[in-house]
Amino acid sequence: MQNSNKRIWLASPTMHGEELTYMTQAYTTNWMSTVGANISEVERIASEKIGCKYAVGLSAGTAALHMAVKLAGVKPGEKVFCSDMTFAATVNPVVYEKAEPVFIDTEADTWNLDPEALRNAFKAHPEVRVVIVAHLYGTPAKIDEIRSICEEYNAVLIEDAAESLGATYNGIQTGSFGKYSCISFNGNKIITGSSGGMLLTNDEQAAKLVQKWSTQSREPAPWYQHNDVGYNYRMSNVIAGVIRGQFPHLEEHIEAKRMIYERYKEGLSGLPVTMNPYETDKAVPNFWLSCLIIDKDAMCPQTISETSVTYESQHGKSCPAEILEKLAAINAEGRPIWKPMHMQPIFSDNEFFTATSTGAQAKADNVGADIFSRGLCLPSDIKMTDEELDSIIAVIRSCFD
Ligand SMILES: Cc1ncc(COP(=O)(O)O)c(C=O)c1O
Repeated sequence: MQNSNKRIWLASPTMHGEELTYMTQAYTTNWMSTVGANISEVERIASEKIGCKYAVGLSAGTAALHMAVKLAGVKPGEKVFCSDMTFAATVNPVVYEKAEPVFIDTEADTWNLDPEALRNAFKAHPEVRVVIVAHLYGTPAKIDEIRSICEEYNAVLIEDAAESLGATYNGIQTGSFGKYSCISFNGNKIITGSSGGMLLTNDEQAAKLVQKWSTQSREPAPWYQHNDVGYNYRMSNVIAGVIRGQFPHLEEHIEAKRMIYERYKEGLSGLPVTMNPYETDKAVPNFWLSCLIIDKDAMCPQTISETSVTYESQHGKSCPAEILEKLAAINAEGRPIWKPMHMQPIFSDNEFFTATSTGAQAKADNVGADIFSRGLCLPSDIKMTDEELDSIIAVIRSCFD
């Protein structure tokens, strides 16, 4: 069994050495600033890899999303259609601009924004001009369908590829489908700078605006001259050094994550569980997080309140709370599925659409809440040993004894 002193992480940084070289270069050349060779280089590498003309290095993925929302011209009070089952950072920038996120339910095939629910929402609000879609856990959403619905309604698509760097849809990199797209280099991501993010676009004017806004909106003048509100959102050259050292290892990280997913899939076969799904004919995920969902009839009773959960153990059945508890007992970090935004107290009054309903009916019966109650994220750290993975699989199997 697993050595209980060593923590097995959900997803922790994996460094290789080159990061230190580029960070040290920033130090020895004294470009300890938001200007420098590392920033220009990671912008070049990212735009080339993703297939976008312009990449602007920023302090975080959240900053990139905020810039995207501003580029889309979102105004106070305006409704913006957003992924529902995602991390709050996808939607918070809409609130920063005093606009109103409207949540779109999740589909079961990829656990991402459901195109049918998006259609239903557009029928009710054809005037909506902006849609933000995330690729959860590194699995591409049905992005072609979503993009064509946006085109039909003349809406701007913002793509949140924070979790999906390196994943492709029909051979095309995520992060290149939105008019404005965002990636993250947060410490838990597939490659990291410890923090950092980027805005991606093919629009030169937009990229220039983000460069300006993110450095306090200084106008060309001998003094501090401002026409627009500014932000201190630019990427640091030290952080960019870490990212520069990580980029050559992106594909290797993806391959290691894919192996983890495959080993879970094989190790859990025969149990009443399914791994997080993807469209095998179209999508190649980056497998950032491996997750599972328990069959409905194999769920033991589980009661979820706003801030806690209880369960009743039953023979042959289990639930996310039990599996997470048993994983924690061997010092392995799992996590519940990201709790859908329509279930969050902060957004309790916001509109929410499923493929067939809205209002109370949608809240009572939707795909996102169901995945949240039956699913969980498994330890997906690429430094895990085979032995550690085996012990996690054994623990999960024991939950169904
Ligand atoms: C889906 C999603 N969007 C946005 C973000 C925000 O990125 P950052 O932490 O770099 O601000 C994250 C992760 O942190 C995320 O998982």
